[in-house]
Order: sequence, then structure tokens, then C-alpha cells
Amino acid sequence: MQIEYRKEERQFHLCNGRISYIFHVMENGQLGHLYFGKQIHTGKSYLYLQKQRSHCHTAYAYENNFCFSLDTVRQEYPAYGTTDFREPAYRISQRNGSHITDFVCCGHEIRPGKPKLSGLPATYAETEDEAETLIISLWDELLQVKMELLYTIFRDHDAIARSVRFANQGTETVFLDRAMSLSVDFFDSDFTMLQLDGTWARERYISERTLQKGIQSVGSLRGASSAVHNPFLALKRKNTTEYDGEAYGCSLIYSGNFLMQAEVDHYEVLRVMAGIHPSEFCWKLAPKESFQTPEAVMVYSCQGLNGMSQAFHELYNKRLVHGSWRERTRPILINNWEATYFDFNQDKLLEIARKAGELGAEMFVLDDGWFGERNNASQSLGDWTPNYDKLPDGIRGLAEKITAMGMKFGLWFEPEMVNRVSELYQKHPEWVVRTPNRRMSVGRNQYVLDYSNPEVVQYIGGLMEAILDDAPVSYIKWDMNRNITEAFGASLPADRQGEFFHRYILGVYSLYERLTEKYPEILFESCASGGGRFDPGMLYYAPQCWTSDDTDAVERIKIQYGTSLCYPVVSMGSHVSAVPNHQVGRVTGMDFRAAVAYFGTFGYELDVNMLTDAEQAQMKEQIAFFKKYREVIQLGRFYRLRSPFENQGDGAWMCVSRDKRTAILATYKVLARVNPRMKKLLLSGLDAETEYSVSGRKETYYGDELMNAGFVEELEFTGYNVRDNGTIIYDNGTDKGDFTAHIYVLEGR
Ligand code: DGJ
Repeated sequence: MQIEYRKEERQFHLCNGRISYIFHVMENGQLGHLYFGKQIHTGKSYLYLQKQRSHCHTAYAYENNFCFSLDTVRQEYPAYGTTDFREPAYRISQRNGSHITDFVCCGHEIRPGKPKLSGLPATYAETEDEAETLIISLWDELLQVKMELLYTIFRDHDAIARSVRFANQGTETVFLDRAMSLSVDFFDSDFTMLQLDGTWARERYISERTLQKGIQSVGSLRGASSAVHNPFLALKRKNTTEYDGEAYGCSLIYSGNFLMQAEVDHYEVLRVMAGIHPSEFCWKLAPKESFQTPEAVMVYSCQGLNGMSQAFHELYNKRLVHGSWRERTRPILINNWEATYFDFNQDKLLEIARKAGELGAEMFVLDDGWFGERNNASQSLGDWTPNYDKLPDGIRGLAEKITAMGMKFGLWFEPEMVNRVSELYQKHPEWVVRTPNRRMSVGRNQYVLDYSNPEVVQYIGGLMEAILDDAPVSYIKWDMNRNITEAFGASLPADRQGEFFHRYILGVYSLYERLTEKYPEILFESCASGGGRFDPGMLYYAPQCWTSDDTDAVERIKIQYGTSLCYPVVSMGSHVSAVPNHQVGRVTGMDFRAAVAYFGTFGYELDVNMLTDAEQAQMKEQIAFFKKYREVIQLGRFYRLRSPFENQGDGAWMCVSRDKRTAILATYKVLARVNPRMKKLLLSGLDAETEYSVSGRKETYYGDELMNAGFVEELEFTGYNVRDNGTIIYDNGTDKGDFTAHIYVLEGR
């Protein structure tokens, strides 16, 4: 890994043996982009990649120089209005109403390691030799504002992390109307863009579009990253597959309003940007104040989309998630939400926990309904004291009883919300997010607490700590069930209202920081009506996220498959729930449900006592299986093999242990088809020379065989044959009916 600076060309080349990122200081002192892709030679000038030529009918930066126009050069962090007419990376409003700036490179520094971003989640380096950071300083003389562009390259990860810091060193206040985290101009735009979008209960479906001239974007203005769009996009070439070809990924480490955009210009140059959504954002930068953007990460893979995903998985598992749960397998939990909803008491909970514990579950999680007068979704959010009618021994008493059973205890909170019917609202109605003299919209009967006000965060943190200091709690599910409306920060002056949304998220991060610092052993799972805030910002604090409220296994194949484009298996909360499924009413077998839930954190969300003896036996077996192989699944490498988006819902994927000795392969069939063709899958990630046994099969197969000739799947039932003598025989296919899954264990011999 190296950051090379060539003084003569003022060229920077960041590389790590696999990727190169190259840019230079242009003749106007601003930064021009040269290359991002597979590693190429150091010790060379690449300025020819940015050759200037005269273009007709544009504006030029200098008189009598018809070869330099920002309209036609590729840049790193562009401004609008000084010959570039595309969307800019930043915009600064000044006292005279102007937005024109002139930031000129005034120096750079190359540092070992990676500096921390204060108050924001970000990737990190543990030692100075595993990353190197380039800080480019730019200065606008008129404004006396400094801009620092941070670029980190990692020794072991094929990713570049970027962020920007603005510092007002002048005497006049300016306003940042736009401050993206990253902008990069690609040489061409021959890409298909992939995005992860959806809504409640069908989050992170993959959708694709071929880039067209103009702007195509995804974003959120909901106050959370949202289920509608994820702060992620990928670019792939026309011939890129899961395992071959170029793919770029862009991911924003942020949980609030965001924008990710791809603009194809008049010369087919592609400008990609990621950052805080500029709509509803305006940050006042008074003299001596500074502003730090969130971090964005760009990944390059020449091994297809799966290579891109693995680069994200590795980086996020190893250098985004931090603390004691990093690279650690997760406890198998039983959650009472779909088992009881609000209708429970201590005895009922203990019965569920006891039975689940007997079958092998390791943690009991008490979901919503344990506090205040919370007997339905319309009251008590904000009153974080136990409901003693339901829980006569309080949270401590219940938690102690659970721990005495040999299980860990987890608890649900929704710390950012309040119901109107609550003691908190009676005491502090001014803590609710609302615009003065305007109607308050409501969602799920609740209102959002104003986390842009540190006093509110402080208060809620105190209530949570009172519970956590008192009871043996090992896990917290941090829920968030509505988006922000009538955004306004009562504690902010008028000229800082544009800071509200970002300050809100900083408030959420500050509470996470406080709790994860104080209780490093507690495992946090974030949640937002399922996967409504599943993003890298959350992962930094909460290494797992409730992937979706949709627990139907058929739906989950798509949701988990899509999520895996950027996020690791171990980060995806996944449970086996009861049938008929509570979201879609579908009835699937217990093994099918488990076969999908295995590829995540794995747990159950049902009343174990309602299961038949046979189902309880299945559950016991499933838990035993998962305990045996969870290290392979959660800490191994993940390979997508068949997309449910292209195969009528059917899917396949596999996890391979780090030493390639063990692999777990899963195939899913949603609907049976009559008289189908024979099917095979090209496996991935195995050791070519190793001979593998496959559970349920007599033959053994070499890795190269499975990855090239392929793994022939179970024969499907093909219907009946009428023999000549009139007898009917049924075909001997083993894979019969709808909703079937196969889990194969491959062991190297
Ligand atoms: C929404 C979550 O996604 C559910 O899992 C559950 O915790 C409910 N909230 C509780 O209100």
C-alpha cells in the first residue's frame, strides 16, 4: 500500500497492489480525476488521461486558453459556476448572495493510519501500517475558508474512504448548502447502475438501470436512510457477472437524509456523488467553526459483483464494526414479538424462554410492551420504566430468571420516540419535533423526539442507563418506527434550522456512542420497522440490524439476497416465525423457514409452546445445526449463486469457511414446476484441489469440479406417467412441492 506523490505533475497515486486511485492538481489549482480501477504502475505520469483540447461553444477558465474548461475535465470535488455546469459537490452561500468559490490546492499531507472523524461513524485502521491517508488542503482566499479532502487507502481492503472537512478561518459567516462526501468523474458512462430499494417489509430489492444522459439518483428525505432507498449504489459493465468483470460500489456511512447520484454529461462522462441530501440541508459556518461530512466508501472489483460485495463485507466486518462484537458469532435468540405482541406477562414470557432454552436457544429477547402502560401501540413510548402489572419483578427480576436458565437476556427500546399518551409528553411537550404553529403529523401514534437537542438525548440516555445498570441485559434492540415530519429544532436559531436533520442523526450517534462505550459487551441490533435504517452508519454501533419485518421465508430470500450486495451475512437479523406467516399469510415448512434464516444472525420469533412435538424436535435439530456451522456462515465468505430476482423467486447462495475446508450451500425453490429440466449450479470460493464430501450424497467432488462442471441439484418431481398397461407411476424426483430448500454441508477430505 502506498500513496505516491509526483511533484512535477502534482499527481497523487493511491494503490495497494490491487487497486489504483489517481488524480492530480490541475492548472487552476483544483483537482482533476485521472483513474480508479485495477492497480496500474506507480512511478508514471497519467496526465495524458486528462488531455485537454479545445471544445467549441463552452466557457473557458482563462482568457486566451481555449483548452481549459471545467465543463470538459474530470474532477474530484467540483464547484458549479466557474465553467462547470454540472451538479457540484459543494455549494457555499456568502453574505453578498454569491455561491462562487475558488478553492486552490495549498498543500497536502500523507499520514500513516486513518484519523477518526469526530462524532461520526467511519471505517478505521487499528495500526498505522494498515492504512494510509492523504489530506489535500484547498483554500479560498476571498472567503478565508479551508477545505480538506481526506482519502484513505487500506492495505487489506479494495476500498477508498473519503470525506471532507470545511473550516471557516475568516471573519464572515458562510452557509454550506451542499457538502457531499465524495464525488468522482469516470472516464465513460457505459455502466448499469444497481440500487437497493423497496418499502416497509420488502426492503433492498435489487433494481437496475442502464445509465442515460442526465441525472439518475437515489436518496432519502425521511430523516433516516430508509427502506425506500439504501445509501448504496453499484456500477457494472455490460458484461459484468457475479464473478467476472468490473464493478464499482459506493456506500455512504450515514443514517440520515442522503443523496447518491450519477450524472452523465454531454461527453458521456459520469459523475458519481454521495453525501448528505442537499435538500433540507444548510449548515451555518460561523468564523472559527468547521464542518465534517460523513464518510463515503468506494470499492472496485474486477471479479464481478460478488467481488465488490466481498470487499464491502470484509471492510465492514473488520474495520467498521468495532468493539467486542466484531467478527464474533451471534447468540441464537428467541424474540417474543410475533409470539405475544403486547399481550404477555412474566409467566408467559418465562414459559417461552424455558422451552426455547431447552431446545438450545441462547438468548431471550423481550420486545415492545414492557414499560409504562404500553398495552398497545398508542401509549407510553418515552416512559422507560417497567410495567409492574405485567412484570411484577421488573426487568431485573425477569432478566435474572432468564439468566438463571442459562440464557442471556435482551431488551427492546425505541429511544427516539414518544407517544402523546405518556408521562414524558406531559412533562416535555416541547421535546417533540414540530414546527411552531403548524399541525403535527403522526405516524404509528407516535412523535419523534428532538435529538438535535442534546438535553433530550441526555435525558433518554439516563433512563436507559437506569435499566441497564440495574439488570443483566446482554442485548438491545433499538427500534425506530416513524420518519420525521414538520422538521424543526426548537433549540436551534432560525439560521440553523437547515442543520436540524444532520444534528438529529448526530444526536442518535451520540447516544449510541455513550451506550456502546459504557456497555461494551452489550450486543446492539438496530431496527426501523424492520430494515428502514439498515446502513453502514448504524452498523458501526449496532453490528446487526433487523433486516425486515417480513419474516416470510419466500420474501426473505429476495430481501437477504439484495441486502448482501453491500452488507455482510452476520449483520442481517433473521428469524424463523410462525405460520401462517403474519405478514403475507403464507404457510411454509419449518425447515424451509430455517434454511433461509440460517443466513443471518438466526433466531426464532414465535411461541415455542404452540409448536407440535415434531416441530419442537425440528427446532432442536436446527439450533444444533446452526451452532455447529455458524462460524462458517457468519464469519466465512458469502457467494451469491442464483438470483431470486431473475428466477421467479428461487435462489441459491453459499458460505465458505476461511480455510475453505467447510462450505454450506443452500438452494431454494419457491414454486414447483412440472417436468422441469435438470439444474446445476457453479459453486464458488472452494479450493480447486480439495475433494469435498457433500451431506446426503455418496459421491465426492473436487473443488474445481464443483466450480466448473457444476453441482447437479436434486431432481425435481416431474409429474406422473401412464404406463402402457394403464398403471400410473409417479416420477422419482426427490424435490417435491412448493417451498423447498436444500442445505448441503461440504467438507474437505
Ligand atoms: C417494529 C419492529 O420492526 C418489530 O420487530 C417490533 O419490534 C415492533 N416494532 C415493536 O413495536
